[in-house]
Amino acid sequence: MQQPERVMRAIHAMKERGSSKLQVISDFDMTLSRFGCNGRRCPTSHNILDNSRVISEDGKKKLKDLLHHYYPIEIDPNRTLEEKRPLMVEWWTRAHELLAQQKIQKGDIAQIVRESDVMLRDGFTELFDQLHKHSVPMFIFSAGVGDILEEIIRQANVFYPNVNVVSNYMDFDDSGVLTRFKDPLIHTYNKNNSVLQGTAYFQQLSTRTSIILLGDSMGDLTMADGVPSVENILKIGFLNDKVEERREKYLDAYDIVLESDETLDVVNGILRYIL
Ligand code: TMP
Ligand code: MG
Repeated sequence: MQQPERVMRAIHAMKERGSSKLQVISDFDMTLSRFGCNGRRCPTSHNILDNSRVISEDGKKKLKDLLHHYYPIEIDPNRTLEEKRPLMVEWWTRAHELLAQQKIQKGDIAQIVRESDVMLRDGFTELFDQLHKHSVPMFIFSAGVGDILEEIIRQANVFYPNVNVVSNYMDFDDSGVLTRFKDPLIHTYNKNNSVLQGTAYFQQLSTRTSIILLGDSMGDLTMADGVPSVENILKIGFLNDKVEERREKYLDAYDIVLESDETLDVVNGILRYIL
């Protein structure tokens, strides 16, 4: 924390305002899901599809090539957001086109998720249970694949009615085969009002003026920008990768930065105090 007093003040103010004023806005991949497990990288929702048995060897190679080309750009602290944005559109567009060529069946999604190595961060049950118990809305804003991430939280038995997701959703034809992804395209650096306009759910949240924001990317910082009257916001960031190079920027941007922490203990502790 760069400003522990600010953090304390925000937490106290949120407790005073109470649960009826609170909402949690969270990224999904590498924030609610784990970055590493058993010394290996955990998959993102895209990677779950990429690594699955329904993708041809040629498709797998092309998707991996895209990842190796664009991921270093995504996390490069020396490039501006303006530089990154068109390149992210390029990555998502090319990846979605490749996935749409693979004849992925809607009916296979649950099995693909079951067979994957995905893991949610330790403490996810407590997080979702606490929010559900106190009717606090949990808004998951993800540049990943909505159909996949919804299946992950469904299989984890935490897809409660207070959880709402805005993400990239697959579009299937009448026989249940993936043909394209629905608009608008959400990538790492357009997670803001530009893609939320018109989503009824987001408008409903305007009275929830205490916000806990969870993310792992510099692009996640704008996820709450559409909320018209924010009284108190606490931004908690997981710094997963390129830690030394990115620490300073993360400490400037997030109120709390978590390193080498595959748990949700910090947010659970704060919520236990507030709720
Ligand atoms: P998030 O906003 O839920 O964290 O999801 C975005 C992540 O997905 C981002 O870190 C990059 C990653 N990604 C892949 O792993 N493979 C892909 O093909 C694409 C387009 C994105
Ligand atoms: Mg993420």
